[in-house]
Amino acid sequence: MNELDTLVESARQSFLQAQTPADLENAKAQFLGKAGRITELMKGMAALSVEDKKTRGAAINIAKQAIEAALNDRRQALADAELQAQLKAEALDVTLPGRSANVGGLHPISLTLERVENIFGSMGFEVAQGPLNTPEDHPARSMHDTFYVEGGHLLRTHTSPMQIRHAVQHVKRYRNPLDAGQGMPEIRVIAPGRTYRVDSDATHSPMFHQCEGLWIGENVSFKDLKVVVTDFCRTFFESDDLVLRFRPSFFPFTEPSAEIDIQFQSGPLAGRWLEVGGSGQVHPNVVRNMGLDPEGFIGFAFGMGMDRFTMLRYGVNDLRLFFDGDVRFLSQFQ
Ligand code: PHE
Repeated sequence: MNELDTLVESARQSFLQAQTPADLENAKAQFLGKAGRITELMKGMAALSVEDKKTRGAAINIAKQAIEAALNDRRQALADAELQAQLKAEALDVTLPGRSANVGGLHPISLTLERVENIFGSMGFEVAQGPLNTPEDHPARSMHDTFYVEGGHLLRTHTSPMQIRHAVQHVKRYRNPLDAGQGMPEIRVIAPGRTYRVDSDATHSPMFHQCEGLWIGENVSFKDLKVVVTDFCRTFFESDDLVLRFRPSFFPFTEPSAEIDIQFQSGPLAGRWLEVGGSGQVHPNVVRNMGLDPEGFIGFAFGMGMDRFTMLRYGVNDLRLFFDGDVRFLSQFQ
């Protein structure tokens, strides 16, 4: 190995030993700098003949280029190493499972109310909503105890007061003082909502849901009540052979009155009568209080338990599960 090859080799070695760009620049100065080995060799050519200068110069240049190439290789290697180290330090573990958002859904009772509104909507009923109350001496209070709130307020025990509220508004809207109610469209409405009673067991919760129905017209009979409620129940439960029974009963605002019982012909509940609501022909006094002449207007009302409907539809045996707020239970209805 001649002197120039040895020089190139020692430059390569000292570049390889450099671990940082700064080390490398110091090593470079030793070989390629103003006072470096190559410059020294160039200076040493001064005494040579022109011929020798040519060959020696060419050889030194080749050695210089080899040193520069070694320098560039090492620069590149150090830069690559630095990049790798940085990538490693900033690495993201993309194999970690992501955090998925919880998808919410409607509560089973809300699903029932939506279904009930759709079915009655298809039978021409509008949907009314509103605040309700029963005066302290109202007979409707005597059948069930409720929660009394300070300030003269009372949590409603059923949705029936919605009948008169809606009817009075309806009659006002259409009553023309010049032609005593002529041409007034029928009252055909449902009023779903929350109701409260002092009751708590597997089939009663202090807060529950009812859906009131009211149909008043010039010729609306008990037969229409049976048709509407039967049709509704069969559609709701998707069961054509569902049987209904209107069991005589008493309510202060209907006469005659009836409890509505249903019976499935197949499935786990087949053969049992299940009470789902109350109903009756609207009492003439109620019709009068609506602002209508009971001789000219007649109709029916019903009130059904939406929680009971939901339990029967989904086969849930404890009503309280609906209001415990346990997502494992509620998510089954999505
Ligand atoms: N409101 C009655 C109840 O809660 C049910 C009912 C509604 C009865 C409409 C007759 C007419 O028990």
